[in-house]
Amino acid sequence: MHVKIKSSELYKQIYDLVLAKIDRKEWKEHEKLPSVRRMAEELKVNRLTVLRAYQLLKEHKKIYAKEKSGYFVKSEDPSFSLNESQLLEIADYPYSHLLSSSIHQVAVDYQFSQAIIDPNLLPNSYLSEYVKKVFTLYPKVLGTYSTVQGDEELRTALSDYFYKTHHFFAPIDELLITSGAQQAIDLVAKVLLRANDTVLVERPTYSSAIDIFRQYGARIIGIEIGQGGYDLNQLEHILKKDKPRFFYTNPTFNNPTGCTISALQRKQLVELAEKYQCVIVEDDPFRDIYFDKAPPFPIYSYDTDGYVIYIRSFSKYVSPGLRVAAVACRHPLMSHLITSKSLADNGTALINQKMFLHYFFSERMQIHLEKLRTALFLRKEVMRNELTATSWKWTDPSGGLNLWVELPEQISVEKLLDACLEQSISFVPGYICDPDQALRSWIRLSFSYANEIQLQTGMKKLMTVVETINSDSAYRQ
Ligand SMILES: Cc1ncc(COP(=O)(O)O)c(C=O)c1O
Repeated sequence: MHVKIKSSELYKQIYDLVLAKIDRKEWKEHEKLPSVRRMAEELKVNRLTVLRAYQLLKEHKKIYAKEKSGYFVKSEDPSFSLNESQLLEIADYPYSHLLSSSIHQVAVDYQFSQAIIDPNLLPNSYLSEYVKKVFTLYPKVLGTYSTVQGDEELRTALSDYFYKTHHFFAPIDELLITSGAQQAIDLVAKVLLRANDTVLVERPTYSSAIDIFRQYGARIIGIEIGQGGYDLNQLEHILKKDKPRFFYTNPTFNNPTGCTISALQRKQLVELAEKYQCVIVEDDPFRDIYFDKAPPFPIYSYDTDGYVIYIRSFSKYVSPGLRVAAVACRHPLMSHLITSKSLADNGTALINQKMFLHYFFSERMQIHLEKLRTALFLRKEVMRNELTATSWKWTDPSGGLNLWVELPEQISVEKLLDACLEQSISFVPGYICDPDQALRSWIRLSFSYANEIQLQTGMKKLMTVVETINSDSAYRQ
């Protein structure tokens, strides 16, 4: 193959190139595509670009992936009637999700990209006991729909739990169970956003939230979050000038920085939200993953006038696979969310809700949580200790799953990622967490998936790659 590819939209050109070969039957059904490495070498592009193109082709059902074997041409699906231009209209956004999921998909020895907890640290065997318990207690559980708003027994338990531990009272009719926080963010966006509305987010923030808001046609602006929280003067200026529909915030062990907003700023934030009539969407999945003392109570607990929507995922330390999260907010907003939820999936799987209920409120859970905090703290310390050998800057969070690291400015993070993937190390490039796609010298390193030995070895390898790149001008920005 002797094709010279230029321009910034390389992955789309590779997408078109592969598609053309499939359409012309040069590459036939079930034939293996060139490996990502080979394709990258032949086209003289980096591997991530090829990966991104392959990922998009996979999403469009043109190719399929077999674990550890590579990518193959898919057979034609007669029911597939949308034409390419319709599909690419959606795919044309530079979705961060596409890029991050293609990074996560690479099987690496040193997995620092996915902010998920090592399944070895999750109580898998105990969970299976709860499966049996749920079938004994509710023999008809699989033959029954959940109510759209969520199982009443679970909402009652959560209402009590929030009151005792989160410092707010949400009656059960102001609670909605969703299939993960991801769905909750989507439902909120669906209910509140119209095309060209402005959404304010932290900079940096959870990249999939940026994607969701973008998909609803929002204009996204960011406010910096740091160790001291936000610059409230700047925040007020934005609220006054840009009139955002809502402010999406992850104020407790923010993903990716690990920063936490103080109790005082939480209170001031609610006052500003009321003054400028801007809804606050508080996403709070890391609250319980603290290393020393518990973080301040949620912003929601300061709200008296119904300006805050509270989203509480339990994926991070109970089980990401159960897909259980809760939303708290007032009516009439809650009624709109319930309608939206009913149109999306008619209610979260009842069996998942019951399993979560019995496991989460068990004594075992509390023991597990204590152990998990210690295990994660130790892993964080290993990664942090390795970083002390460098001149890089990083945040040292008191909770969460990530370190947010600033590399020497001259290094191209894209090229670094490519070189790291070659060495079987993955991380998230910081710019995908930025609505402006800037923050080019930052990376997110998750310490929650790899074990201590992998963390130690992987970090040493990562430093060697950075050193090599730093001394090689071809790799600089
Ligand atoms: C800030 C934030 N919100 C939401 C989610 C998604 O959570 P869930 O698995 O409950 O959909 C994540 C997952 O990484 C996250 O980091």
